[in-house]
Amino acid sequence: MKLVLAFFVCFLTLALSQPKTNSIDAQVQALLKKMTLEEKIGQMTQVDYTAITNHYDDIIKYSLGSVLWGGSSEISDITPKGWAATYDTLQRFSQMTRLKVPLIFGVDAVHGHNNVDGAVIFPHNIALGATRNPQIVEKIAAVTAAEMRGTGVQWDFAPCVAVSRNERWGRTYESFGEDPEIVKVLGAAFVKGMQGSDLSNPASALACVKHFLGDGGTTNGKDQGNTEVDEATLRTVHLPGYVEGIKAGARSMMPSYSSWNGVKMHGNKYLLTDVLKKELKFEGFLVSDWAAIDQLDTNYRSAIEKSVNAGLDMAMIPNGHGQRNNYIDFITLLKDLVKKKKVPMSRIDDAVKRILSVKLSMNLAGNLYANKELLAQVGSKEHREVAREAVRQSLVLLKNDNAVLPLSKNAKKFHVAGKGADSIGMQCGGWTIGWQGSSGNVTSGGTSILQAIKNTVSKETKISYSIDGSGADSSDIGILVVGEQPYAEMMGDRDDLGLSKSDLDAIGNMKAKGIPVVVILLSGRPMIINSSLEKSNAFVAAWLPGTEGQGVADVLFGDYNFSGKLPHSWPKTMQQVPINVGDKEYDPLFPLGYGLTYKEKVQ
Ligand code: BGC
Ligand code: BGC
Repeated sequence: MKLVLAFFVCFLTLALSQPKTNSIDAQVQALLKKMTLEEKIGQMTQVDYTAITNHYDDIIKYSLGSVLWGGSSEISDITPKGWAATYDTLQRFSQMTRLKVPLIFGVDAVHGHNNVDGAVIFPHNIALGATRNPQIVEKIAAVTAAEMRGTGVQWDFAPCVAVSRNERWGRTYESFGEDPEIVKVLGAAFVKGMQGSDLSNPASALACVKHFLGDGGTTNGKDQGNTEVDEATLRTVHLPGYVEGIKAGARSMMPSYSSWNGVKMHGNKYLLTDVLKKELKFEGFLVSDWAAIDQLDTNYRSAIEKSVNAGLDMAMIPNGHGQRNNYIDFITLLKDLVKKKKVPMSRIDDAVKRILSVKLSMNLAGNLYANKELLAQVGSKEHREVAREAVRQSLVLLKNDNAVLPLSKNAKKFHVAGKGADSIGMQCGGWTIGWQGSSGNVTSGGTSILQAIKNTVSKETKISYSIDGSGADSSDIGILVVGEQPYAEMMGDRDDLGLSKSDLDAIGNMKAKGIPVVVILLSGRPMIINSSLEKSNAFVAAWLPGTEGQGVADVLFGDYNFSGKLPHSWPKTMQQVPINVGDKEYDPLFPLGYGLTYKEKVQ
């Protein structure tokens, strides 16, 4: 009996001490042995939802490994329930394949589960950079993961750890800032929050650190452009986010559309394989950017060959080459490349091992369908509170003459103006419901800044409102919300970052009434603000705060203090751009880290 017991204890200790990864490796090996070449290539194929001709037929026929919902890949019902139902339907098809490997679904939940109507929209990364607070970033990522899993989705193409070095770039707001130090800390915090303590947790989702490497360093800030720096600069400025991401447990990454000294990243074997996978020991998998491999060669076959051989593990495929069914070309051509020994079988096996290892670590098979409990929490009050807290921490006070702020809740009358005052869409910016975002009431739920002000003041206080700043007569103070209209990616590249004429006119109209003017700027980056700064008594950089405009009022009315610090050096003129801390000549309007508080004495 004793012997049996001892044997049992011994067995138990052995079983428990066996690292989990070993058993996952064994499962991966076993699965890989059973797979045909077609099934392996299927795992390496990610198709945009709208590009699949017949979901039932093609998910099964090609044993597709992944589906994504692109920024504008609308499903017919974009409510949380609608998303969950579509997700469940597609996942059911994966269970009709021979090996029943679950699909992994990817989205750009870059500031909340932002394609879903009614999901909480958090401030964009530039605003989180202003918080300098990894704890709030971790919380945001955890809430985002929970909202995603509520609709089934298990994979987020985030965090973007671009180090944005030129404000002309339309993706500046997707970056935590110009300083690699801020980016690496907040990027790692995002990975931790998104993936939780264990990837197999049903409320965790897979993070995807992007865009490797140097996306924020392109010449003239051109989106998808060329980053012309030496390797030492590439490594010190742009690499730290990935090193920390790997340490934080990131298991997927996305190469950048951009080039390094003329070589496109999707074909850069040195950086993708030698540096990332070998030197940095990245064990996860690489998913391409949207149709990015198509840019490597006008011949799609050669493009596939170059990217897979460079180290790409999964291709993200919308309708490429102006035609539908690009994924069928990808599958057919890659199969032929393997048969002709242009792509070694060992490369295919390596890619599939990486993908399966993530899928098994996530226990996707054990949590196949959308989580009903989490579905009920999408857009909940608790989740909105996290966003509101982030908004408060992200506001940067640039000017506060005669302590015009904080505002009094008992003032007689405020005049609120500007095209951003009553526009949740402008607060949210790009990547909100649609790829490019839109102004107005872009999503259900949330609070505009105008509404937030109304919610905060006393019953006796009157609030008047006009877009152009007229009608401010007899007000104690004017509050003007101006800034950029929503955009995403290359659509946001700008050579002129001045405020629009209508914004400047609105400031002029308010100023003409001789009342103190508080300007709140909604923007994805520093803008050229000299004249409006002069005309204003107080000036707040609010970035793109998302749906929870109440967080802005919380600070304007002094329930909370300002604590945000600039994540970018603020240029005086366009001629100064790019301007970054560490430049030989550094004379910005406001330096990196600038930000006033109510305690500070300002004149
Ligand atoms: C962007 C990526 C994004 C992908 C999928 C691309 O255009 O560069 O950041 O993840 O689209 O929407
Ligand atoms: C998609 C986005 C993608 C973009 C790239 C859009 O149509 O919806 O997800 O990032 O194209 O060009």
